[in-house]
Amino acid sequence: MPVLVRGARQLLTMRGPRGPRRGEAMQDLGIVPDGAVLIRGGKIVSLGPSRRVENLSLARHAREIDATGRVVAPGFVDSHTHLVCGPARLVDYEMILAGATYREIAAVGGGILASVRAVREMPIRRLLLQAKKTLAGCVAHGTTTLEAKSGYGLDEKGERKALRAVQALQDDPIELIPTYLGAHAVPPEYAGRADDYIDWMCRSVMPKLKRRKLARFVDIYCDEDAFTIEQGRRYLSAAKDFGFGLKVHAEQFSRTGAAMLAVEMGAASADHLAHINDDDARALAASDTIATLLPGSVFHLGLDCYPPARKLIKAGAAVALATDYNPGTSPTYNMQMVLSLACSQMRMTPAEAFCAATINGAYALHCGDHTGSIETGKDADLVMFDVPDYREVPYHFGVNLVVMTMKRGVVLYGKGNVGWDEN
Ligand code: NIG
Ligand code: FE
Repeated sequence: MPVLVRGARQLLTMRGPRGPRRGEAMQDLGIVPDGAVLIRGGKIVSLGPSRRVENLSLARHAREIDATGRVVAPGFVDSHTHLVCGPARLVDYEMILAGATYREIAAVGGGILASVRAVREMPIRRLLLQAKKTLAGCVAHGTTTLEAKSGYGLDEKGERKALRAVQALQDDPIELIPTYLGAHAVPPEYAGRADDYIDWMCRSVMPKLKRRKLARFVDIYCDEDAFTIEQGRRYLSAAKDFGFGLKVHAEQFSRTGAAMLAVEMGAASADHLAHINDDDARALAASDTIATLLPGSVFHLGLDCYPPARKLIKAGAAVALATDYNPGTSPTYNMQMVLSLACSQMRMTPAEAFCAATINGAYALHCGDHTGSIETGKDADLVMFDVPDYREVPYHFGVNLVVMTMKRGVVLYGKGNVGWDEN
């Protein structure tokens, strides 16, 4: 049965030319006042002013969702998460609060390797249960597409288990994009032999992942206490040869040249970017690599080095926003909160933040052809907020304003009076 979402006070379409938005174009949300969206078979077949769309013959037989007085936008695309990650790291958290650095936490047995120990021990059944619960939370907060990294198994069994969990949760209920992050840390069995670990991943792991279709992207964490640029180049070159899309955790705690490496390798995105300089911003702007900013991780660690969003946008880089959901640096999956941080701490405008969290996030996952905006032919991935103006979404920080989340025309989450009684 067709579905008609009608009467939205503001329908944020994000329509525009193909490709991510840069500079001034990030301000243009393509807002339709009193807007409607007509959906059939999970796809958007028409959109525009309600009085026009509701008179189409298909709309007359449609099931109606009333959006009167509310904002309807494309569902959030959370393009950077460590979905399969094991338990909360509360010892680390208290150390952060007492002033310890990320490096100091790792030195006493916390950090990434603490999660690796936990995930290796967890049966897939428990990982699945945990991820399912997280996904329900993501949906309730308006996310309809989510990238999910491995990176807490590191050995073959652990990484396969994490990526199998992601595969099992595909489209249940939202779209997941799996990323192999073997190069997240050097595992204990390779301690002091990072180069050997890189070689092993390139030779032995990547071909299997490709064959089993367990990953679409390959990611590496390059930093002072992580992998070097040389190791990154080798690893990403191998991944590229296998046909994976590329991502880089770049310039999170120090500047090592990882953003430049991402550009050089033609990566889909360079993520974090807290410590970039002007040359990096220019290089990103001149490239197709999306600058994905993760302010939740700066907030959680109590740091003040938010990535220079204004500089990137001014230079002309395509900026995306994501949660970086993980137990060490960003234990949130709330994209609305990320928008609030982007606006208050990085001085992005609410319009730029919406653009970065939807259409640009979709391009960071090579998904811009079917999601990220409300346009004819795209998947009907929508979120409805219980406010009359989109600027109220970042404004009410920490508040969940979502009253409906729809994926491919199916309402996955509905609260209160959305004219839908299936939930
Ligand atoms: O994106 N710093 C690298 N990776 C993650 C954190 C992982 C962790 O602390 O468990 C990040 O911040
Ligand atoms: Fe991350």
